[in-house]
Amino acid sequence: MMMFPSLSISFPLHPFSLPFLPKTRHGRSVRVRVLSTLALFMHANNQAAFSTAPGAKYTGVAAYNPTSLLPPPLPSPTVLTTIPINLQNSGTPNLSIKQKGSFIGFSIEMSVTNQVLGKNSTLIQVPFLNLMANIQQRAGSVMVRVGATPRSLQSWSTTNLTGVTGTTQTPPLEFSRDLLYMMRNISSFVNVHWFLGIPWFVTQPFDTKIITASQEILGDYLLGLQAGNEPDMYHIHGHRNDSYSPFDYGGEFSDLLTQVSATNADPSGKAMKLLIGPNIADFSWTPEQVWDSGFVDKFHDNLAFLATRKQSSHTTLTHDAHIKLLAPYLNSTTYAQKVDKPFLMFETNTGSCGGFLGISDSFTAALWGLDYALEMAHSNFSGAMFHLGGQNVFYNATPPTNQSTFHQWTVGALYYSALVMAEVIGPSNNTQVINYGVGGLSSYTPIYNIYENGTPVRVAIFNYIDDPSGTNTVHAVISLSGATMPSSVKVKYLAATTVVQKGGYTWAGQTFGKNFESDGRPMGQEDIKTVNCDTTAKTCTVDVTAPGFALVFLNDDAFTEDKGAPPMTFPTTAHTRTHNTATVEPSVLATSNGFRKSIHELAGTSKPPSAAPRTAKSSLVALSVVFGAVVVILGRVM
Ligand SMILES: *[C@@H]1O[C@H](CO)[C@@H](O)[C@H](O)[C@H]1NC(C)=O
Ligand SMILES: *[C@@H]1O[C@H](CO)[C@@H](O)[C@H](O)[C@H]1NC(C)=O
Ligand SMILES: *[C@@H]1O[C@H](CO)[C@@H](O)[C@H](O)[C@H]1NC(C)=O
Ligand SMILES: *[C@@H]1O[C@H](CO)[C@@H](O)[C@H](O)[C@H]1NC(C)=O
Ligand SMILES: *[C@@H]1O[C@H](CO)[C@@H](O)[C@H](O)[C@H]1NC(C)=O
Ligand SMILES: *[C@@H]1O[C@H](CO)[C@@H](O)[C@H](O)[C@H]1NC(C)=O
Ligand SMILES: *[C@@H]1O[C@H](CO)[C@@H](O)[C@H](O)[C@H]1NC(C)=O
Repeated sequence: MMMFPSLSISFPLHPFSLPFLPKTRHGRSVRVRVLSTLALFMHANNQAAFSTAPGAKYTGVAAYNPTSLLPPPLPSPTVLTTIPINLQNSGTPNLSIKQKGSFIGFSIEMSVTNQVLGKNSTLIQVPFLNLMANIQQRAGSVMVRVGATPRSLQSWSTTNLTGVTGTTQTPPLEFSRDLLYMMRNISSFVNVHWFLGIPWFVTQPFDTKIITASQEILGDYLLGLQAGNEPDMYHIHGHRNDSYSPFDYGGEFSDLLTQVSATNADPSGKAMKLLIGPNIADFSWTPEQVWDSGFVDKFHDNLAFLATRKQSSHTTLTHDAHIKLLAPYLNSTTYAQKVDKPFLMFETNTGSCGGFLGISDSFTAALWGLDYALEMAHSNFSGAMFHLGGQNVFYNATPPTNQSTFHQWTVGALYYSALVMAEVIGPSNNTQVINYGVGGLSSYTPIYNIYENGTPVRVAIFNYIDDPSGTNTVHAVISLSGATMPSSVKVKYLAATTVVQKGGYTWAGQTFGKNFESDGRPMGQEDIKTVNCDTTAKTCTVDVTAPGFALVFLNDDAFTEDKGAPPMTFPTTAHTRTHNTATVEPSVLATSNGFRKSIHELAGTSKPPSAAPRTAKSSLVALSVVFGAVVVILGRVM
């Protein structure tokens, strides 16, 4: 049983209250989209439904809520569990566009950058570096968007948030040059590339400071600049007239270009080729309305990406939910290919307004997020950002805390999704995905085949069912036509004992632990299984327990784990300093703020997690300044 802080913030079961209840373009009110936790479970109907486990009443911050749900009942009627996966060595039609291993990035609210990224440009969060390095190792790079504030307020730096309620309320913060330096400094340790947003509240004149500064400071690490955020919701906040249309948005876009040019705000000319639009919430405009307004034709040279955003309002454990959610975008991803622009899902998560208790923070979310990522890749999106809010959300990939520096981090389920996705795709930039369909395949057992240069290399198999009896274990029978089936294949599993498990999930046997147990490095011995194939039948049968996920590597070249970058880890301050300088006393840590964390690594031992020895020395040297600074903080906090 974990110990939890005795903070006085209580979290109600109905955390959602909104300052407005506007209509969507489908005529539904927002209240329908923002389901309460209980309503969500009752809503599920024919889909996997959860119920709340009796017991614990928790009054700490949402990110660390221990409440668990009961797993959903078994599917009835029973589903196909012996599944033939017939691969062709070449010529498979309808593969996705070529995808990058950095497909899943992170979207970080401005209000929590100082907790997630670092305090300032000279004091960077070491766990964050490790978490990003793990992804870089597999994918080569990581995409991070800074500045996201839900409900279309991002980039509205002068917005008055007084009186705004709801779980995702965030204080208005402005970009500072030091934040940009911090981002740039992070990029010199790990290959993080950044998205930022241009303030779009006042357009006469636009505030162009961030355009100049981000280009100057981030240079090639600046991936894109969002031009507006959810413009189809501006009228709801009273920031624009009700008649505000895609055409008006295009007019403002044009004004921006004129003003930037007139004031020489983009001296290199690079920033104005990195714009991202239209970033609609698909709320009162459809993407097609924007395309049909001539937006992309007119600004083709300025747009680096097209983007939309969508929060899933139902996180049910079925693959069909993803297909339904993404279906309206297939026309747009086809259009994006035609106009030769990558199409991003700019911000997405397991639920609007902070996620759903017990789902967003359980193994469910890890499977859900990975299936969603792969379905987006299959659907020809070019990337998606998982959103990280403050402490009062359940869906944080890495919930921040003002105690993070000495109590370590809690690595959320969606981080595992992102990590595994990086490995499923890998760093070649040449990877194609297809959602595998076979007669009788259920929505509980999605399968994706992964190709390099048109040849199958990896197979991703999900089992959403929660059944410890073994009856619902999936037996995936893989065969390959046009080439010789290998005598054995290697398999990595993403595992937990139940879909409602909170924390402690394992990827190939390694974990980031439970709450407050991680410094961002995987812990434990890596465990890669070898499955012998049936050389007579020319098949390899891979079992996937219920629940579970398996990534099958069809040959040794298919391994991607170390192909993105050399493995590198950044030991945390306390690790290095407690031992050498005794600046932080384990006994002080053990008693501070009601935590009992002295059992964990950070509290004073120097023994690295067993997966840690592959340390990049050069990084350590470079980070010594950061370590020193963190120690100062530790001393001050306590
Ligand atoms: C994705 O794009 C490829 C290439 O244009 C196409 O063959 C495939 O059908 C598309 N997939 C979907 C789901 O639209
Ligand atoms: C960052 O914060 C530390 C601790 O408060 C301080 O010593 C340091 O000067 C700050 N660095 C910058 C660039 O502000
Ligand atoms: C912010 O909004 C609140 C409530 O709407 C109002 O009382 C307050 O005066 C506003 N503050 C500013 C600085 O505009
Ligand atoms: C980080 O940015 C600051 C600017 O505040 C710069 O002086 C410093 O050298 C950078 N630190 C590292 C470790 O790169
Ligand atoms: C697909 O998108 C194009 C471009 O916006 C639009 O003209 C067309 O009507 C759309 N088709 C469907 C079926 O929505
Ligand atoms: C940490 O945050 C909590 C809740 O916001 C606050 O009560 C507490 O004073 C903070 N502690 C420190 C050391 O900043
Ligand atoms: C993949 O693309 C990125 C740019 O997005 C580039 O930096 C990287 O070198 C490419 N990787 C390969 C293997 O070509």
